[in-house]
Amino acid sequence: MTHLRGVRTTGLPVLHSPADQAAVPPDRPAGQHWGRRVARDRLKIEIETPRLRLRTPLDRDVEDIVYLANDVEIARNTTGVPHPYSIHHGAAFIAMVNLTDPDVDLPLLVEHKRLGPAGMVGLHRRDEPWSEIGYWLGRNFWGQGIATEAAGALLDWAYRIRGDRVVSSGHFADNLASGRVLDKLGFLYTGEIRQRRSHARRDPTATRMMIRLL
Ligand SMILES: CC(C)(COP(=O)(O)OP(=O)(O)OC[C@H]1O[C@@H](n2cnc3c(N)ncnc32)[C@H](O)[C@@H]1OP(=O)(O)O)[C@@H](O)C(=O)NCCC(=O)NCCS
Repeated sequence: MTHLRGVRTTGLPVLHSPADQAAVPPDRPAGQHWGRRVARDRLKIEIETPRLRLRTPLDRDVEDIVYLANDVEIARNTTGVPHPYSIHHGAAFIAMVNLTDPDVDLPLLVEHKRLGPAGMVGLHRRDEPWSEIGYWLGRNFWGQGIATEAAGALLDWAYRIRGDRVVSSGHFADNLASGRVLDKLGFLYTGEIRQRRSHARRDPTATRMMIRLL
């Protein structure tokens, strides 16, 4: 895919060598933190594209995240973004990032090289043994191909560095822009419709599931 040309990844996490796997307690419940070493590995993840840098969000990013995320259209179209989005939500989000296993939850800040923080993209294990990709951008960044560039780079990273072979996603049926992003990235509709909740819609919403082999 041409839009992935020029993607550079650095700071390879070291979670996949046999020695590392042996170091992980076999009975660790999914999502429980892996301790300081893994927190450090998370900090090493940096994915670069021509316009963007994807990196772990830090305490100092809370105000930017709140500014970008506090938009009812973002809450309406995602399953995890509350509305209104307060500084407490932002701080709790960063605390969560530091505690979870990056193989289960890997949210990355999308930083525009010229304009600063733009939104989030992430890989999250939910219902399946593979990850789902999700993303949102602050409104000023919509309509410039940024979601496609960020998500494409993360998928490329997941394939090359983490060894992921399948990634799924889902978009609310009325969110055509997100469906288009996934289509541009090569995702296909599975035909399955799940009912999912957002913080800004009263009822569960039809969610069109998509999948891509990397
Ligand atoms: C969805 C979202 C991430 C898209 O980000 P973006 O950077 O504008 O996406 P891109 O520019 O990479 O691609 C958007 C595509 O959708 C198209 N599009 C935009 N609005 C559309 C609409 N109402 N109907 C159909 N297509 C639409 C654009 O034309 C573009 O396609 P193109 O490149 O073929 O012209 C952004 O709007 C957003 O953050 N929305 C709120 C949160 C959200 O929906 N997250 C996704 C949850 S599944």
